[in-house]
Amino acid sequence: MHIPERVIEDIRNSADIVDIVSDYVPLKKRGKNFLGLCPFHHEKTPSFVVSEDKQIFHCFGCHKGGNVFTFMMEHHKLSFVEAAQELAQKLGIQIDYEEDKGHQDENEIFYEINLQAAKYFTSNIIDPNIGGSARSYLTGRGISVKTMREFGIGYAIPSRDALINHFTGQSISIDKAIELGLIGRSSNDNRLYDRFAGRLIFPVLSPNGRVVAFGGRIMEKNDKASKYINSPESPIYTKGKVLYGLSFAKDQIRTEDYTILVEGYLDVISLHQNEIKNTVAVSGTALTEDQIQLLSRYSKNVVLFFDADEAGIKASMRSIELLLKRNFDIRVASLPDKEDPDSYVKQYGKEGFLNFVKSSKNFLEYQTQFYHNNGWFDDPIKTAHAIREIVKPLVFLEDQLKRTLLIRSLAEKFNLREILLENELNKELEKYNAKLSQTNVNVNVSSVSLQRGSQQLSGAKKEDVKTSLHYLKRERELLKLLYDGKPEILKLIFQFISPVDISLAKHRELFEQIKEEYEEKGEIDTAMLIENYRNEETKAYISEICLEKYFTSKRWEENAGMEARDNSVRFAKDIIKKIKVEQINKEIRSNNSAMNDAGSAEEQIEIAQKNMQLNKRIQEIISTLT
Ligand code: CTP
Ligand code: MN
Repeated sequence: MHIPERVIEDIRNSADIVDIVSDYVPLKKRGKNFLGLCPFHHEKTPSFVVSEDKQIFHCFGCHKGGNVFTFMMEHHKLSFVEAAQELAQKLGIQIDYEEDKGHQDENEIFYEINLQAAKYFTSNIIDPNIGGSARSYLTGRGISVKTMREFGIGYAIPSRDALINHFTGQSISIDKAIELGLIGRSSNDNRLYDRFAGRLIFPVLSPNGRVVAFGGRIMEKNDKASKYINSPESPIYTKGKVLYGLSFAKDQIRTEDYTILVEGYLDVISLHQNEIKNTVAVSGTALTEDQIQLLSRYSKNVVLFFDADEAGIKASMRSIELLLKRNFDIRVASLPDKEDPDSYVKQYGKEGFLNFVKSSKNFLEYQTQFYHNNGWFDDPIKTAHAIREIVKPLVFLEDQLKRTLLIRSLAEKFNLREILLENELNKELEKYNAKLSQTNVNVNVSSVSLQRGSQQLSGAKKEDVKTSLHYLKRERELLKLLYDGKPEILKLIFQFISPVDISLAKHRELFEQIKEEYEEKGEIDTAMLIENYRNEETKAYISEICLEKYFTSKRWEENAGMEARDNSVRFAKDIIKKIKVEQINKEIRSNNSAMNDAGSAEEQIEIAQKNMQLNKRIQEIISTLT
């Protein structure tokens, strides 16, 4: 069942973002837009802007932004569907749900097979003749029958073909069961076998509770077989998009406003049994962007439980970077050696475990403490190294104020000179920005990183980076003009600029999407374009572009008022001209360096002629666009 597209459209058309936001945030009219105190972060001067004509919002302090759906999702911590339902209710729109069809149907078959398998495994474990060993294993580990049932823990009979026979008897497709990894085919003799035979079974559920995969744990120690086997990826299971236990944990995560992130199935199960239900597991891999996105719906605070040595931190660094980028607040709880959350809660109970969670440290403080404890701050050379390591992750924090505050508190706590931390951070930022603007790959530049970049790189020698930053700003202005949607300006831009003229991949992608939309519909609906992105960062990025002030051309500010400039075809021509000319000049420069390497006089002349053509083209563009 899902909400039909036309109902979503109906909601989008009926909801006025200014009305909806006003229910939660007092707004004042400022020019074309509305301004208020951001509900997503603490601030004293308003930086939260709502645009009535584009039906979007953006906060220039914390960089959240999007359309009316995004606002509801963020404000009430809802999924998209839940946000749509909430809005429909507010607006008195009735939702007639639609049956899912098409390839959805085929997935339905996969879900059904997994469900049948899960039922079969649980029927084994409660069978007095079959499930004895599995039940006593669980009892031995302190897991109650109630918990066993809640999590649907099951048992696969230690036989080569018990599940195969069961499926055959029920006319379930063996081919599909193979695709789901329930049944395997031996590479020696091609014979089929039950992949999970003899194992304790943990069904893995999607956030809304459907069985998408299984984990199977061996019960006796065995050096030959691996401790766990897991379902492979399938049409209904992508490993990096699922968190074990989320369907049981999500309500509690919302209530507590934090997630306890552990490694294993049994950690989740054991903590739940001890009434600590805001717990999910990554199941032995690094956290992915998709999983983080999933978590961000429920809370942006996590407590990580992982191996607390230097290697453990290094291994988790990637996940931590991703969490920081999403503005998560990360705390680290490092358990004593040889303990895991399961063993700890068994020994110290709910209170003991929660006290331990309370004592967890902010990630940066944790990292700094680690260097402190190991004596790094006693030696000036090692201090420099440690500080560098400490500030590295700060680069990923978009919120400048947050960075400053963190640095101050670290300096105070560990008696370090703030200026040392600041200097190292600036160096890291410089490296980061240079990488950002030079690689042209799929990166996310926010205005903060641009400002940051230009502030720091406006020194003498970084000419290249500086020009790149100008490009990026200009490209943003171009996109802003497009999202503004003035017909004559759209026409003008598409007449001169094509995707290859856009240097940043991310910008090019947005440009192409607008172009497609324009060619198809003849106009631009910014709120709808934003909605089509499921990626929250992209939504925020677009809303920021739309609502920020134009950067360049001081001249324009002097000659015309803001309003006039926003609408000016002349301003658009100016931008187009600059982008085009910049592009051609780049070509000329690369020709010039080719000329230095050219062997023969003929080759040199040929290049010089090319450059003459290019210069002529520049003159043409300037005269057409002036
Ligand atoms: N894991 C896996 N394959 C393995 C080992 C581990 O997929 N060979 C994953 C499982 O998801 C497991 C998690 O990594 O739950 C953590 O591993 P571990 O701590 O060894 O497992 P526990 O679930 O804690 O199991 P136990 O307490 O019984 O050792
Ligand atoms: Mn364990």
